Amino acid sequence: MACEISQKVLSIINEHGPTDSIQLSALLKEDHQKIVGVVKSLQSLGNVIDVSQETVKEWKLTEEGKIVSEKGSHEARVYYAIPNEKGISQAEIMKEVPFAKVGFSKAMSSGWICIDKSSGSPVVKKKVPSIVDTVKENLCLILMNETNKVSDALKQDYKKRKLLEESIVKCYLLKKGPEFSLSVVKSETDLNTDMIASGSWAGKSFKEYNFDAFGVPPAGGHLHPLLKVRSQFRQIFLEMGFTEMPTDKYVENSFWNFDALFQPQQHPARDAHDTFFLSDPRISTKFEVDYLNRVQNVHSKGGFGSQGYGYEWKIDEAKKNLLRTHTTAVSARMLYQLAQKGFKPTKYFSIDRVFRNETLDATHLAEFHQVEGVVADFNLTLGHLIGFMQEFFRKLGIEQLKFKPTYNPYTEPSMEVYCFHTGLKKWIEVGNSGVFRPEMLLPMGLPENVTVIAWGLSLERPTMIKYGIDNIRDLVGPRVNLQMVQDNPLCRLDKTKTSAGDLMKSVLQQWDEIFEEIENLKCEVKNLKVAMGECDCSLEPDIDSLLGNGSLNICIFADPVQPPYSVNVLVKLLGQQIPISTGVHVHSSMENIPDDLKNFFTFDEVQDKNKSTGISIRLVWKPVGLDPIMVITPSSSVPVIGEVNIARLLCSFLKGDIGLCFRNPCPLSTIQVDHWLDLIHKDVIHGAKSNLASFEVLLSNRLKETQCMMGNGITIVDLCLWSALKNMQLEKKFMYQYPKWYEKMLQYF
Ligand code: PHE
Repeated sequence: MACEISQKVLSIINEHGPTDSIQLSALLKEDHQKIVGVVKSLQSLGNVIDVSQETVKEWKLTEEGKIVSEKGSHEARVYYAIPNEKGISQAEIMKEVPFAKVGFSKAMSSGWICIDKSSGSPVVKKKVPSIVDTVKENLCLILMNETNKVSDALKQDYKKRKLLEESIVKCYLLKKGPEFSLSVVKSETDLNTDMIASGSWAGKSFKEYNFDAFGVPPAGGHLHPLLKVRSQFRQIFLEMGFTEMPTDKYVENSFWNFDALFQPQQHPARDAHDTFFLSDPRISTKFEVDYLNRVQNVHSKGGFGSQGYGYEWKIDEAKKNLLRTHTTAVSARMLYQLAQKGFKPTKYFSIDRVFRNETLDATHLAEFHQVEGVVADFNLTLGHLIGFMQEFFRKLGIEQLKFKPTYNPYTEPSMEVYCFHTGLKKWIEVGNSGVFRPEMLLPMGLPENVTVIAWGLSLERPTMIKYGIDNIRDLVGPRVNLQMVQDNPLCRLDKTKTSAGDLMKSVLQQWDEIFEEIENLKCEVKNLKVAMGECDCSLEPDIDSLLGNGSLNICIFADPVQPPYSVNVLVKLLGQQIPISTGVHVHSSMENIPDDLKNFFTFDEVQDKNKSTGISIRLVWKPVGLDPIMVITPSSSVPVIGEVNIARLLCSFLKGDIGLCFRNPCPLSTIQVDHWLDLIHKDVIHGAKSNLASFEVLLSNRLKETQCMMGNGITIVDLCLWSALKNMQLEKKFMYQYPKWYEKMLQYF
């Protein structure tokens, strides 16, 4: 195939003269990269062609440009969204049409649409009966490589509109070389004995050696993921001073697997449905008779303070050979040996295979690996066991553990171990543990004040989680893809502690989830109440009770150096709910107040003369400094000082669901709102420059994750922050950094 293309390239150069690789790719309808490959291989033939590198500029559609080429220009989409006769409100267009802002102004300046105010409220209407969407047509031309048909001026214009971009492409210019020929003669790659014997080598051309080529990777063995994880576990145990137990006996007898562990002979786990018994050799015969007798006694009659199980213990049952069902059989043998050698405090571990006659499914096989840790020392307690496991799992990168009581025949107390999986965001069971029973240890001959604590877990489970495998058959057995074994990376358990930043992020994420959940619950409660015929479903306290039958006078003293912009927004919102009258005054001590401050309240009062109840809000410009002061009459309360506190109070007057999250009855969110408001008061309004910098880091972490400070809805935190930033002339900076936040805020300011 490549050879065919080489021939074609040579004949094109022969016919057309010098040609570049981009032209070749267009002529041959092949990908440019492929042509570049052909050029390189022709170059390697020697002097057949002359190649020089060139760069050319190419016009390409941006993602936005591609949308326009498919769906029409923004202005055309605005135009087509307007119903023919009756028109449409501007707000609706903004809502319905993507990129409506740009589209609207372009359509206006092109004279396609107009705003008709004749019927009172402004309506957007079509101004011309039809339009031609040249932007779309031109972009389609460029998409089809017919760039020349669009003028340079237009291309520059589209570039400014971010519909087009110029990219620089490297290409090759091909000319005939001194040894140009139309046929590609393949050079020999190797000199062999035949060529030398026949002398044919003399007439042949040879390919040059490429000493930069990569060698063929040598084939070698690869560790299976289970083995990689095993070596990490082994490392952790070794770091903690544990010694590995010999686990080479897959075939064990029932005595060590069950009896020595005080597991009664009728226990269901000893059934053939659960355990693989051997038919040949069926039984073991060598046992230490004294120990055997002590085990028999403790099972049948009790002893060492235990009443035993009180059944007739049979040696024949204990002799039966089986494939060990847990590595605790190995631990039992080792503890017995330890008692015989003379007890010394010891820490053992094992990681090896065990076998169970289980129903197979996606997460269970009849054989798997167990990881087991055993610590024997004087007077160990459950606290030691928990401590050991905490340290062990911490080294695996697992910090959150929970323990749940459970039952094992050989341990008392026993605990299942759960860990919080941060990826799956839930608690998962990771192991089993306990303190070995005296009925197991004392017959072995261990001293009475020795306690042995132990825990076990599977190797497969953490491996599957670590390597993202969800079916155990993809990890073990005939279906295993050897490529998976080859390609899987080294196992590095994440032992580093989460950084404070990560922690903060995950806490904030959890906050957001809680809020969302609470919002959902709120809706459910509302729906339920409505369904039950209780229509008054407002969860908020009522301003009406505060107003009583009279009206409330609020006076806010503020300094022109620090206008409390959040107050204006809250007053506007309040005005949608209760009759409000506003007024702005200038204190006699003030001179030259700018006009926009004189008209501080942008809220249009709709005075209802018949209604006497309501709130009258006056703002007085006075040199009070950074903190405005609010006085409410009639009220015995002390003045409210500071913008964030005024915002808190005004916000508490807002009733019901006004489509915003200004008030949230959830105590958790109230705490978070309060926390941010305090930060704004302390670090932004009153803070030194250095505090502001650290606040900005917090802020950017916040606004990177969500659209607003408290999730995706605006709250008083956003209002107060905006106001503080505006007073520092920083709001433009934020406008560029957090466009989504900015866009939302513009609806209010
Ligand atoms: N042997 C137990 C099992 O198979 C694990 C375990 C080991 C429990 C040590 C307690 C102590 O699940």
